[in-house]
Amino acid sequence: MSAQANTQETEQNEDKIRPQRLEDYIGQKDLKGILNIAIAAAKGRKDPLDHLLLYGPPGLGKTTMSLILAAEMEVNCKITSAPALERPRDITGLLVNLKPGDILFIDEIHRLNRMTEELLYPAMEDFRLDVTIGKGQTAKTRSIPLPPFTLVGATTKAGSLSSPLRDRFGMIQRLRFYELDELTLIVKRTAEIINIAIKEEGAEEIARRSRGTPRIANRLLRRVRDYVEVHKAEIITEELAATAMELFDVDAQGLDWTDRLVLNTIIEQFHGGPVGLEAIAAATGEDRKTIEEVYEPYLLQIGYLSRTHRGRMVTEKAYQHLGFKTDEPSQTELQF
Ligand code: ADE
Repeated sequence: MSAQANTQETEQNEDKIRPQRLEDYIGQKDLKGILNIAIAAAKGRKDPLDHLLLYGPPGLGKTTMSLILAAEMEVNCKITSAPALERPRDITGLLVNLKPGDILFIDEIHRLNRMTEELLYPAMEDFRLDVTIGKGQTAKTRSIPLPPFTLVGATTKAGSLSSPLRDRFGMIQRLRFYELDELTLIVKRTAEIINIAIKEEGAEEIARRSRGTPRIANRLLRRVRDYVEVHKAEIITEELAATAMELFDVDAQGLDWTDRLVLNTIIEQFHGGPVGLEAIAAATGEDRKTIEEVYEPYLLQIGYLSRTHRGRMVTEKAYQHLGFKTDEPSQTELQF
C-alpha cells in the first residue's frame, strides 16, 4: 500500500472513532457544560459562537471538540495549524472563504507569526480584514468585511500566547487529563467501533497505561488488537492487554521508553535534579519542546517530577517506580 493510501486509511479510522456530537464525548464534564450553554445561547441569537481558546496537553481532544462544535452549530470547520500559516495570504485566503458562522480551527496557535497574528486581531474583533496594498509611501490600507465566524485556537502552552491575542477570545478553557473510568469507557467505545471484543478488565488495563490521554488509549488499543489477532485470541482480557503492552515497552504506569530515559537521566546524571530543561534535552538527545509539551505534563501530573524555580526534580515516587533504592527511613523516623 502506498504511503498516501496508508495515511488516508489512518485518517478515515480516526474520523470513525472521533465522537461526532457533544453527547457522545466522554469526559471533560465542566467544559461540556460550558459549551452546551454557549451553543444554545448562540443558536438562540443566531450568532456565531464566541471565539474559543482550548489549551492543555496533546491528545486530549481539542480538534475533536472543535469538529463537534461545528456539528452542533451546523456549520463547517476548517482546520489548519500555525506553522502552515507562514505568509499573510495563507490566513487571508482562509478567512475570505469562510461562510457565515463557520469555525476556523488553528492548532498550535502560540506559534503564529507576528504578521498573521496582527491580521487576526481585526478579523476576530470586527470581522474585518485590513490589507495593505502597494509598498512604501504609496501603500494604502483597505478593509475587507468578513462573514461572522468563530476562531477556535488550540495550544499546549497558553502562557506563550501574546496578551492581545489571548484577550480576543471570549472563552478560554483547559482540557484536563482523563480519569481512569472515562478512559475505560473510551477504550470500550473504540473497541466496538473497530470491531474487537474486549473485557471490562482488559479495557481498564489499557486505560491505566494511557497517561490520561484518549489518543494514547486508542493507539494502545490498536497495538493490543494486533497482538491478540496474531495470537488468535478471541477477546482482549486483562492479562493479554498487560502482556502486549509490556512487549511494546509501555509499563504499568503507562510510561514509555522516553519517559524512563528522561527520569533515569535526571537521576543518574544530575543526582535527581534540580536541573534545567536545556540540560535534560542535551543529555537525552530529545527535543526540548517535546519534553516540555509532551512528556513533562503527565510526569508532573502523576507526581514523578516536580518543577522548582531552579529546575526539574525527580520525586521519591519516581525513584521507587524505576526500582532505585531510596534511603530507608531511620528507626526514629518510623516511630513517629
Ligand atoms: N475518542 C477519543 N476521545 C474521545 C472522547 N473524549 N469521548 C469519546 N470518544 C473519544
